[in-house]
Amino acid sequence: MGNNLLKGKKGIVFGALNEMSIAWKVAERAVEEGATITLSNTPLAVRMGTTNELAEKLNCQIIPADATSVEDLENVFKQSMEILGGKVDFVLHSIGMSPNVRKKRTYDDLDYGMLNTTLDISAISFHKMMQVAKKLDAINEWGSVVALTYMAAQRTMYGYNDMADAKAMLESIARSFGYIYGREHHVRVNTISQSPTMTTAGSGVKGFDSLVDFSERMSPLGNATADDCANYCVVMFSDLTKKVTMQNLFHDGGFSSMGMSYRAMEQYLKSFDGIKDENGNIIYG
Ligand SMILES: NC(=O)c1ccc[n+]([C@@H]2O[C@H](COP(=O)([O-])OP(=O)(O)OC[C@H]3O[C@@H](n4cnc5c(N)ncnc54)[C@H](O)[C@@H]3O)[C@@H](O)[C@H]2O)c1
Repeated sequence: MGNNLLKGKKGIVFGALNEMSIAWKVAERAVEEGATITLSNTPLAVRMGTTNELAEKLNCQIIPADATSVEDLENVFKQSMEILGGKVDFVLHSIGMSPNVRKKRTYDDLDYGMLNTTLDISAISFHKMMQVAKKLDAINEWGSVVALTYMAAQRTMYGYNDMADAKAMLESIARSFGYIYGREHHVRVNTISQSPTMTTAGSGVKGFDSLVDFSERMSPLGNATADDCANYCVVMFSDLTKKVTMQNLFHDGGFSSMGMSYRAMEQYLKSFDGIKDENGNIIYG
């Protein structure tokens, strides 16, 4: 149920591929909160995915674009302003892809051409998006730009590969552009660092099921779901967070502040019978 948090606001949501996509949930919640939006994804994703169903359901238009193409992005912002009847108030960057991960190239055997593609799609596209928006003056004063990221940008996580470098760059771009966009147009720029979430992109990460289980056990509030993330994005697009900018906001049930939880430790200890006493109780050292 909506609370009109985004009543009268206009936005662009990049990256809704199918109903598991975080961007899909964000688009639904934003509209539920009173926003009017356009959707964007690659021409291939629009053809192969189910974005059309979402557009129909939300009564909004899709503007296909490869987010690495400045020309395509210009078209998205220009067309969105035409369709929505003016500048936009919020933008969601929910885009990530690593050919090295797809081709199972390990981090010590990266293909550098593929690394460039990873960085271009997953990080530099965020810069391109904002540079285009700023040059076209496409975002209203006190607008909000959010990109989705993952904690592997700060801490090494098994299997995340070159996406960790892309996310570190993405978060840095949020700070660097956030300074300029804030100073000149009061536009805020943040990244939301989301729990592992079962989506098409997420399930490409090596050992993803175990990662989801581990972080669930480690997080006092449990993993944040895609629906939880959509709620957080709505708050970040709303006027309730006008002075939050240049931040990497952890949205992970507490995972990022944990060292070890009892639930994770208990699972780990299952393979160490020697540290239980005769009654089966764990002996703490
Ligand atoms: N799923 C997770 O565990 C998780 C955790 C933290 C952060 N994230 C981030 O959330 C974001 C959304 O991912 P998701 O998990 O919803 O998966 P998803 O696969 O549904 O979304 C990824 C999207 O990126 C789009 N994309 C790929 N290349 C593109 C290009 N060149 N131009 C435009 N769009 C392109 C895809 O078409 C797809 O819609 C990504 O940035 C991802 O890294 C995901």
